[in-house]
Amino acid sequence: MIKSLILYMSDQPRLQRMASNMEVSRRVAHRFVAGEKVREAVEAVQVLNQKGFSATLDYLGEMVTKPDEASHATQEYLAALSQIHLHNLNSNVSLKLTQFGLGIDEELCRSNVEQVIKLAGDFNNFVRIDMEGSPCTDATIRIFTSLRRQYENVGIVFQAYLFRSENDIQDALALHSRIRLCKGAYKEPPEIAFKKKSATDANFVKLMKILLKSSVYHGIATHDPAMIAATKEFAQKESIDKKHFEFQMLYGVRRDLQENLLKEGYPVRIYVPYGEEWYSYLMRRMAERPANLLFVLRNLLRG
Ligand code: FDA
Repeated sequence: MIKSLILYMSDQPRLQRMASNMEVSRRVAHRFVAGEKVREAVEAVQVLNQKGFSATLDYLGEMVTKPDEASHATQEYLAALSQIHLHNLNSNVSLKLTQFGLGIDEELCRSNVEQVIKLAGDFNNFVRIDMEGSPCTDATIRIFTSLRRQYENVGIVFQAYLFRSENDIQDALALHSRIRLCKGAYKEPPEIAFKKKSATDANFVKLMKILLKSSVYHGIATHDPAMIAATKEFAQKESIDKKHFEFQMLYGVRRDLQENLLKEGYPVRIYVPYGEEWYSYLMRRMAERPANLLFVLRNLLRG
């Protein structure tokens, strides 16, 4: 059953056509994506802030191949930061280097991202560089390190499924960098990444402990109740204050856990994606959890 649903969902043009024809694309995507325009993202963050969550805005897109596409993404992020400032939102931004031209030219990419970091600095805000697939890891760390040496308000992400992440984390901590720890969302070969969930989870816990023991404010990004419990337990055992770190979760995913953590007094930041390129983002969330396919199909059929 699940296999045939995945096959059905992987017919992307058909699904996208169907979704837009039936005018249900908004309803389907709205579970996980704030909207197509920055205005809708602002509204979503306002609602989250009212509930007590902080946010990080992600203008969807990756792997651009033309400098003007990278420049467009840069302008979108500058506009998002201005909107955050204008509306006094509790939100920073998260970006992907391949959306800023990493695949075209490293220097072009660095200079685009630098513009965003500079404006964020003017607004006393912060920029998180997401981590993409392993072909990008070295270049992402190179650009991040060079920017971090110049700017305080930039952080990075490391993925627990990669063998190299512990070393990379030690290097980033030497620069007092703010780190987001996640499990990792890309398909990676067994030569460089843990393939078993149990091994990734064990490494996640190991890396989480390194981060919590450091003096810097980090993000623990997961919806896995076992990872959340391990983090809470370690913090308690080591008398680490709840406000010394934050949990981070994706918009629309495990809202029950998001609210519980908030009630328990932990800072929780919600990753809020928006933009026209919602389809591939939605597919990644589907791949993570086939039960989400049923959610999408239910909405399609209701339309
Ligand atoms: P895991 O996948 O083990 O899932 C545990 C449980 O969480 C599931 O049983 C289910 O209950 C729930 N869950 C997980 N995913 C769900 C979904 N899509 N829908 C509904 N329930 C779901 N990755 C990366 O490679 N680079 C990055 O920069 C980032 N950035 C990032 C930011 C933030 C804020 C988050 C939360 C995640 C990322 N990720 C990421 C994605 C991350 O690597 C990972 O793919 C997902 O978070 C899923 O892993 P979990 O830790 O949630 O656990």
